[in-house]
Amino acid sequence: MNVALGVGGGIAAYKAAELARDLMARGFTVNVIMTRAAEEFVRPLTFAALTGRKVITNLFSAASAEDTLSSAIEHIRVAQENDILVVAPATADLLAKFAHGLADDFLSTTYLAFTGRVVLAPAMNTNMWNHPATQANLRILRERGHLIVDPDDGALACGMVGPGRLAEPSSIADAVANLATPAKRDLEGEVVLITAGPTQEPLDAVRYLSNRSSGKMGYATAEEAVARGARVILVSGPVSLAEPANMEVIHVQTAAQMFDAVMQHLDESTIIIKTAAVADYHRADAPQHKVKKTAARMSIELDPTVDILAELGRKKGDRLLIGFAAETENLIAEARRKLESKNCDMVVANLVSQSGIGFDSDENEVVLVTRTSDPIAVRRAPKKEIAARILDQTMSLRLALR
Ligand code: PMT
Repeated sequence: MNVALGVGGGIAAYKAAELARDLMARGFTVNVIMTRAAEEFVRPLTFAALTGRKVITNLFSAASAEDTLSSAIEHIRVAQENDILVVAPATADLLAKFAHGLADDFLSTTYLAFTGRVVLAPAMNTNMWNHPATQANLRILRERGHLIVDPDDGALACGMVGPGRLAEPSSIADAVANLATPAKRDLEGEVVLITAGPTQEPLDAVRYLSNRSSGKMGYATAEEAVARGARVILVSGPVSLAEPANMEVIHVQTAAQMFDAVMQHLDESTIIIKTAAVADYHRADAPQHKVKKTAARMSIELDPTVDILAELGRKKGDRLLIGFAAETENLIAEARRKLESKNCDMVVANLVSQSGIGFDSDENEVVLVTRTSDPIAVRRAPKKEIAARILDQTMSLRLALR
């Protein structure tokens, strides 16, 4: 398998040589592309000697007009001939270029022409890493499906201590090797019904009761299940995420509508994953008009919404039922209580009082609570990875219950 290794201009560029060697030891053919800034730190000859292949350093490097033409389209050839593009160190400048589609050198033009999997290993000064611009660019790149190998914490060349040091070359090589392994298809034959996002319960014609769920956890789970071969039915509350591909998506607003959609598809499903943050209360007598503001205090009577999970627990038969528990305290005890009272096979316990995880964030950290094993803590990671761990555990339960 061919890997294009993009080397950015930073102190850590020398570590890319170690990465090239590690990738070759794992059987990859490595084609190195260096930015002009990278050449200030390491000589192209180092990579040429290590890989035994030509190192690309410039978009227009040829002497003759014909050579110039062939070198001008070489990035397309490189993009087509490599299966994975890994960039290490990925500088703040490269992340910004990739995020916004700027293409003014060989590496950035190759990136735009490349359709395979991308691994980015950033390295930079701590303040540059923490800067909102860099973090916003990383969000864009993560959402595009690229794998970011986060930098390590530690002493940096600039004298600061903090995040920004290039991850160990072996960790970056692990990430590339994982991508190169053929995707698992362990959910083939399963029909996975997933609920995602919040519900909105009208209070009058223009106001509603809801919560901060973005739908990211549920959508990530749905996409992971599709990638692993499942047929997926996604029942989604109102979210602002892009419509996911290769699955049936049913949009609902209220808990009652979510209940109807779920029950309509219960028969055909084999696994149900209840990621949605369903409102627990609604206003049964919500007026059809906009309620006028007055100076007086107002109180509104709310009734409980239908408990979809509890109803599923009663009707599940031999389907696997995975509930969630969003808690701010007594995480495991509450998850165990829901496991029993809602007749779930697993409850994904989600501590939602910690910033950066849970509601409306790109990452999560959960504990998987089942009847058959001790609680399994899943460390903080992008929601896609958390989704993969939830599905891994679901499939272990499937095997155990067969
Ligand atoms: O959407 P994100 O921004 O990515 O955030 C993800 C998340 C924090 C919403 C998700 O990880 C999560 O924890 N989802 C469950 C949220 C929740 O409402 O938890 P709960 O403890 O209130 O409910 C327990 C379970 O009962 C959940 O599976 C819920 O879907 C279900 N439920 C709740 C009420 C109700 N009327 N019907 C239900 O089916």
